[in-house]
Amino acid sequence: MSIRIIRTGSDPVLREVSKPVPQVTKAIEKLLDDMAETMYHADGVGLAAVQIGILKRLVVIDVGQGRIELINPVILEKRGSQRAFEGCLSLPGMRAEVTRAQWVKVRAMNRKGETFELEGTDLLARALQHEIDHLDGILFIDHVRPEDIVYETEGKNAR
Ligand code: NI
Repeated sequence: MSIRIIRTGSDPVLREVSKPVPQVTKAIEKLLDDMAETMYHADGVGLAAVQIGILKRLVVIDVGQGRIELINPVILEKRGSQRAFEGCLSLPGMRAEVTRAQWVKVRAMNRKGETFELEGTDLLARALQHEIDHLDGILFIDHVRPEDIVYETEGKNAR
């Protein structure tokens, strides 16, 4: 495994739409491992492949309940609403209160190539929505007004 460089700020790759992964290869498995290592090293709770400059629909998440890997994730259902501060490893020092669904159901493929469904509430629901947004070039700042962005010298709980 190796730690990759996280793309930040106005890097145009962050605005690109990532492509579906047709099948899980050794290279995809290595990429998922690198993404997890990069996420843990940066103290994040989620990372999308685009954040390390790779336009594939891959996400890793760990909100403290173990590592979740999502290949080609899609949100099937959303319910409710929650509002909380959010950050992003690609936008260091920036935070904002973002309204998200309280509960989501996601369908994705795992590294065995099997389709599975996952339900998440609270922080996991937030992380799922945030990371899946990344796959379409959407950042959390797109969900708030510019004047609601808080600039900090150091971000915590970023993803
Ligand atoms: Ni992010």
